[in-house]
Amino acid sequence: MTVADLPKIELHHHLEGAAPPEFIRALAAKKKINLDGVFDAKGHYSYPDFLGFLQCYTDATAALSTPEDYYDLTRAVLAESAENNVIYCETFLATEFCGDGDLVAWREYLSAIQQAATEAEAKDGIILRGIMTAVRHFSPEANRKAAICGAETAGDFLTGFGLAGDENSGAFADYKYEFDMAKEAGLRLTAHAGEWGGARAVRDAITDLNVERIGHGVGAIEDADLMRELVDRGTVLEVCPGSNVALRVVNRWEDHPIARLREAGVLVTVSTDDPPFFHTTMNHEYEMLEQVFGWDEATLRATNITAAKAAFCDDATRAQLLKKIGE
Ligand code: HPA
Ligand code: ZN
Repeated sequence: MTVADLPKIELHHHLEGAAPPEFIRALAAKKKINLDGVFDAKGHYSYPDFLGFLQCYTDATAALSTPEDYYDLTRAVLAESAENNVIYCETFLATEFCGDGDLVAWREYLSAIQQAATEAEAKDGIILRGIMTAVRHFSPEANRKAAICGAETAGDFLTGFGLAGDENSGAFADYKYEFDMAKEAGLRLTAHAGEWGGARAVRDAITDLNVERIGHGVGAIEDADLMRELVDRGTVLEVCPGSNVALRVVNRWEDHPIARLREAGVLVTVSTDDPPFFHTTMNHEYEMLEQVFGWDEATLRATNITAAKAAFCDDATRAQLLKKIGE
């Protein structure tokens, strides 16, 4: 079996960030929206650094303005994931892009995304769940609305609440109200931390927001005590090595701490984050892990078992995933 054939679970994925550039370009052309600066001469997303990436990402979403656009986006993105043998994906959603925090509008976007997911599941067997996301560089009002919309629509499809965006903007504790509201509504919690903010950020996310998973979390490698704490708590890291290389969190794949974290007993999983922005796919991530760190089929399968156990889904779905992975 090659790594391409392995059934994969992806826990860290942004829906707009997975939009194929040609999909966004076609939509923008149809609506006569100018996206100068979003793409380079080869038609790839183009940005100079992390903050530039966040801006490019937001600029590209100008093409996405209706629930129908999100239906088409979800179908396009899931077709790509299914080609990589992804059997289950959790995608981050943001109300700011989907009706600007208005609950009635959000329900329409969510319903369109869910419809696309249902059809993709019937066609390719891929299962999608959504994680409502507060975004650190958006306004406190926008993030409060994200929590309200998330709490109001928590259910079988929308199962999680997260925090993304510029990790250097504000403190984790600033989002405690939103995270408490989400938890009370039954949403499971994750936050981007330790992508840029080091071990300190990972500790703050666990302490201040009571999250069970951490987005990225690679900064934990700096702190042996924290790594032991992550092991003891069973906190799962949603690691996105290709993203970290593309955004220069680390300089080269060889420098990436995923193998060292795993050897220390930390529960790691593998995701793409924003695949076309980082010129990656799930197959590519797995090929690099095999080439650079010598991860064999058993190791990659074990990583997927960790992901299935940490997935924000119901137990019947989890059992189905574990069976497909071959546990
Ligand atoms: N980090 C923070 N925010 C994001 C990312 C990321 O990698 N991708 C999309 N939003
Ligand atoms: Zn992310």
